[in-house]
Amino acid sequence: MDRKFVLSGLIYAMIGMSLGIYMAASKDHGELVTHAHIMLAGFVVSFIYGLCHKLWLHNDTSLLATVQFYIHQIGVAVMLSGLFLLYGHFVSLEVLDPILALSSMTVFVGMILMTVLFVKSAKNSESDF
Ligand code: HEM
Repeated sequence: MDRKFVLSGLIYAMIGMSLGIYMAASKDHGELVTHAHIMLAGFVVSFIYGLCHKLWLHNDTSLLATVQFYIHQIGVAVMLSGLFLLYGHFVSLEVLDPILALSSMTVFVGMILMTVLFVKSAKNSESDF
């Protein structure tokens, strides 16, 4: 599980930096918010989840860990695609608003589930918390 999260994070970093380079080269910083979220929600959060699996969850492959992985990946992919379409003025906010709201909630649920997995992992290890 750790490698899957880290690989997905690195892929988001490459996509985010490509968008950043495009913004810098074109002097059109319209996708600033999208770039920032690709780098932070896509790259940094995914990488941190990979570190959690490596350091504390011991690559837990339980149903809950698998569900958490896919909830994060689907939530982030939909949210970042929605932001790209919104800040690129490809699709109106009226259309994207419910999609961005639902995908943001999904990413948030992914964070809650990782917290549950982390707390549960304490029970499996001798550490008190
Ligand atoms: C090739 C590397 C990168 C390039 C070319 C790049 C380019 C840019 C550009 C052009 C902006 C818009 C600046 C503005 O309009 O104020 C920006 C903003 C931002 N970048 Fe990057 N970036 C790169 C890497 C990163 C990395 C590694 C991260 C974080 C892990 C990151 C996070 C952000 C954030 C959070 C903002 C928003 C800052 C704000 O709200 O003012 N970027 N970047």
